[in-house]
Amino acid sequence: MAKTTTIPTKPFLFLRDKSPFIAAAVASLLILSALWSFIKQAPSSPTATRGCATTTTTTESRDTTFYDDPSLSYSIGSPLKNWDEKRQQWLHHHPSFAAAATGVLMNRVVVVTGSQPPPCENPVGDLLLLRLFKNKVDYCRIQGHDIFYNNAFLHQEMTSVWAKLPPVRAAMVAHPEAEWVLWLDSDAVVTDMEFKLPFEKYGNHNFVVNGWEDMIYEKRSWLGLNTGIFLIRNCQWSIDFIETWASLGPANPNHDELKEIIRATLTDKEFPGDEQSALVYLMLKEKEKWGEKVFIENGYSFSGYWVGIVDGFERIEERYRAVEAAASGLRRRRGEAVSWWYGEMREVYLKGTTDGSGGWRRPFITHFTGCQPCSGHHDPSYGRESCWNGMERALNFADNQVLRNYGFVHDGLGNSSFVSPLQFDSPA
Ligand SMILES: *[C@@H]1O[C@H](CO)[C@@H](O)[C@H](O)[C@H]1NC(C)=O
Repeated sequence: MAKTTTIPTKPFLFLRDKSPFIAAAVASLLILSALWSFIKQAPSSPTATRGCATTTTTTESRDTTFYDDPSLSYSIGSPLKNWDEKRQQWLHHHPSFAAAATGVLMNRVVVVTGSQPPPCENPVGDLLLLRLFKNKVDYCRIQGHDIFYNNAFLHQEMTSVWAKLPPVRAAMVAHPEAEWVLWLDSDAVVTDMEFKLPFEKYGNHNFVVNGWEDMIYEKRSWLGLNTGIFLIRNCQWSIDFIETWASLGPANPNHDELKEIIRATLTDKEFPGDEQSALVYLMLKEKEKWGEKVFIENGYSFSGYWVGIVDGFERIEERYRAVEAAASGLRRRRGEAVSWWYGEMREVYLKGTTDGSGGWRRPFITHFTGCQPCSGHHDPSYGRESCWNGMERALNFADNQVLRNYGFVHDGLGNSSFVSPLQFDSPA
């Protein structure tokens, strides 16, 4: 404990305070240190305000950590060695996060998501992206996860579908306190805000992805798994795994030849330049090396296909209402911060049903595969309206779960604008 201090040694550490006052002052670092003692006393500073504002305590260690090593890189293409030891050492120097190794924070998650840098071609694309991001922020707030939204290319060659790997790699280094990184494509909607990832299932695994073993290993299909959503452990194995996966992409100078090899290995991909085909190929080619630590998840909607889901939302809402009508405890108003507790209480009533397979449990993730909300270039087999309407319905279905804690409910799943107040003790 003697090695940590609550007095930051560099002014930028105070950014944790989230004060616009301070953020503006950072621009002039030179005067900041002189001003600092004054700002801290100023009545407008959150640390000095009582009532509305809360105080954030940030502790930083003065000890040297891996961050002080000038050769440390956040990028794919630069080796990172002994990451597990480095993470442990950092945790050791940050006792408030060390609980992450053992205690209730054992499975700390940072969600990483993002979108392409330029404006959307689809006229409603930017609005959809905003709502899709809001949905993820809501989920993270309710579950206590952190979230990082990236919309820059962190690696020059890795654009388009490959752009997700560099921020995942960087997030691992930026969040040594997090055990997991959950990547969510922008077109994934969390449709069960109470859903807790079943970490007990994943204890011996480092990478979780939706898929089917026979589709990968027997059919050799590029649709054997879906890389739109994946959970990856923050460890050396994952650093190496991402490096290998990325080496099958456009960062490899021989990418064109590789594409030919991947095309010949898979049975159903004409243009295999994407990260999903590359991963199926890697699973086939190096199953011995990676397969044991990869969990192919299909026990719930880890990446639920939207076409089979969006028409069933009213039926699911109806079943959940029936449960709440019978269980007065679930109808209680509550603080959002403890809403997770009601989620656990609800589990008792969901025992007899399933997420998917004809059940009425809320699907964890409804994934709008093929809809391309930003570009608007959706798969031609879906009508334009079916993609956007489906997305709107999924977003409102999720938003109803959020707004419940704020006292409102949407007038209909197709009605994004209007809500009604939730009656006391509803739906009794
Ligand atoms: C949304 O709800 C409002 C108020 O109930 C109603 O006037 C409006 O027509 C609804 N819009 C749609 C698209 O359902």
